[in-house]
Amino acid sequence: MESSDAGTLLFAWRGCLFRVPDQVQPPKAGSLFFCRHLAVRPGERVLEIGAGLGLAAVLAARGGASVVATDIIPEAVEIIRANAMLNGVAVEARLGDCYAPVAGERFDLVCTNPPQMPTPPGRTRRDPVAAADNGGADGWEILDRVIRGAREHLRPGGRLVFTIFAFLGPKTALAKVEAAGLAPTIVASELQSFPRIAYERLEHIRSVDAEATVPAGVPETVERFVIQGIVPR
Ligand SMILES: C[S@@+](CC[C@H](N)C(=O)[O-])C[C@H]1O[C@@H](n2cnc3c(N)ncnc32)[C@H](O)[C@@H]1O
Repeated sequence: MESSDAGTLLFAWRGCLFRVPDQVQPPKAGSLFFCRHLAVRPGERVLEIGAGLGLAAVLAARGGASVVATDIIPEAVEIIRANAMLNGVAVEARLGDCYAPVAGERFDLVCTNPPQMPTPPGRTRRDPVAAADNGGADGWEILDRVIRGAREHLRPGGRLVFTIFAFLGPKTALAKVEAAGLAPTIVASELQSFPRIAYERLEHIRSVDAEATVPAGVPETVERFVIQGIVPR
């Protein structure tokens, strides 16, 4: 039973206020890094996949975009709607896996700060915390599907924008984007604290770190990248 004395977690940023319910991941350094490099233009049609509490989606809507925000967790879809209302903007929140909620639709910008933590064998779980973090054995499970489906969901000249941890491999990311028919670039990079969950999985992460980005010893930081792919006109 929900206690009436449980409190409400709030996050305030850029003049907006966001409620953060139990089952939805609070914003992290990666969420803010992602939002800072989205460069949404007024009038654009934007899709955010895995929107969580709707931080990027609400900010994009406030910037004048027409936004569809999806998540696989029903509680996230509810809070995206609530946070959009709280900030006086319209965001169309839809429940579902990857592109399933937007079949046949096209956008100017498809973006995601996806779950991408490499997950050791036997550690797969089906709960909201796992959905926010786990990216399959090598971290690419959801991103691979986002990248493969991007062209089908972007207008000519449209952009795909996503974040990766360095241990997924920036060269690998650029190659995957190019193989999907988009012109790839690294838009930004930033050093962030090494994530607590990555310490817990350090041995496994080293085993999938094909570009040898994790230093020997106890890493203190990880580089984070924003990758963009543009559809040719
Ligand atoms: C790392 S969190 C990012 C949340 C938010 N965008 C942010 O930047 O703070 C990833 C989000 O993706 C959602 N997610 C996980 N798997 C998904 C899938 N297959 N399709 C859509 N959303 C998914 C999770 O529920 C979670 O809200």
